Amino acid sequence: MSYNLLKGKKGIIFGALDPNSIAWKTAERVHEEGGEFVLTNAPIAMRMGQINELAEKTGSQIIPADATSEEDLQNLVEKSMEILGGKIDFVLHSIGMSVNVRKGRAYTDQKYDWTQKGTDVSAMSFHKVMSALYKNDAMNEWGSIVALTYMAAQRVFPDYNDMADNKAYLESIARSFGYFFGRDKKVRVNTISQSPTPTTAGQGVKGFDGFIAYAEKMSPLGNATALDCANYTVTLFSDLTKRVTLQNLFNDGGFSNMGVSDAVMEAFVEKE
Ligand SMILES: NC(=O)c1ccc[n+]([C@@H]2O[C@H](COP(=O)([O-])OP(=O)(O)OC[C@H]3O[C@@H](n4cnc5c(N)ncnc54)[C@H](O)[C@@H]3O)[C@@H](O)[C@H]2O)c1
Repeated sequence: MSYNLLKGKKGIIFGALDPNSIAWKTAERVHEEGGEFVLTNAPIAMRMGQINELAEKTGSQIIPADATSEEDLQNLVEKSMEILGGKIDFVLHSIGMSVNVRKGRAYTDQKYDWTQKGTDVSAMSFHKVMSALYKNDAMNEWGSIVALTYMAAQRVFPDYNDMADNKAYLESIARSFGYFFGRDKKVRVNTISQSPTPTTAGQGVKGFDGFIAYAEKMSPLGNATALDCANYTVTLFSDLTKRVTLQNLFNDGGFSNMGVSDAVMEAFVEKE
C-alpha cells in the first residue's frame, strides 16, 4: 500500500546488490511512496549487473561509487544534485563487509589490514558519505540520513566477528555527525538496528541459519524482514519523524529487550 509519504522528495540509496538486499527493498518502497533517487554501489557490485533492473523499475539513474573513496563520493553528490535537480532529502547507507568474516578468520586472530578494510567499508564510509553531503551543503533542511546496523554493537554475538566493532563505530558516527548535521543543517541522522535477514551480507556470517532461527524464537513478533526494514526507513525519510535524531532504533520484533522466551526455554526443559 502506498501513502505518498515521500512525494517530491529526492535521495541517494547505497547498497542495492540483488533483490534480497535491504536497500533493494527500500528503493522499491521509496519509489512506491513517490520518492525519486539515485542508486549507487561499488563499481565491482555494478559489474554483477542486477542493479540495472532496479534502476529501470524505479526510473532511477545509477552512479557507481566506492564508499571508501572521497573522490567517488564527491562525484556522486555533485552528479546526484544535477540529476535530481537540487538538494537531497534522504540518504540510505546500506553497506557492510568484513574480510575477516569472508575469509573465516577468527575474532581472536584477525589480520589487521583486513580489519582496517572492513572498518573503512562498513563504518568510516558513513562518515565520508556524511562529510561529502555536509561540505557540499547538499542536504535540504529536515532531510534524513539512515544507516543500517546490528545489535552485535551492544551485545556479544561471537560469529559476527569484527563487524560487531564496525557497527559500534558506525552507530557512534551517527550520533557524532548527527549533532553537527542537526545543529547546522536541520538534518536528522539515525541508525536502524535490523533483525538477521537472509541477504548476501547476512548469509556470509558463520552459523547464520542457527542465528536467524534463534532470533525468530526469541522475538515476540518474529524477525523483521527486509521489507519491514524498508517500511521503517520510509517513515524515517518522511516528514512524520522530523525530530527523531541521534537514535539507534531497533527493528527486530522485540529481540533486543528479551531475556528468554517460552519457545527458546522449551529446547532446554527436560521432557518427562
Ligand atoms: N542481513 C542482515 O542480517 C543484516 C542485519 C542487520 C544489519 N544489516 C546491515 O544492512 C546493510 C545492508 O546489508 P544487506 O544485508 O542488505 O546485504 P547486501 O550484501 O545485499 O548489501 C551490502 C552492500 O554493501 C555494498 N558494498 C560493499 N562494499 C562497498 C563499497 N566499498 N562501496 C559501496 N558499497 C559497498 C555491497 O555491494 C552490497 O550492495 C549492511 O550495513 C548490513 O550490515 C544486515
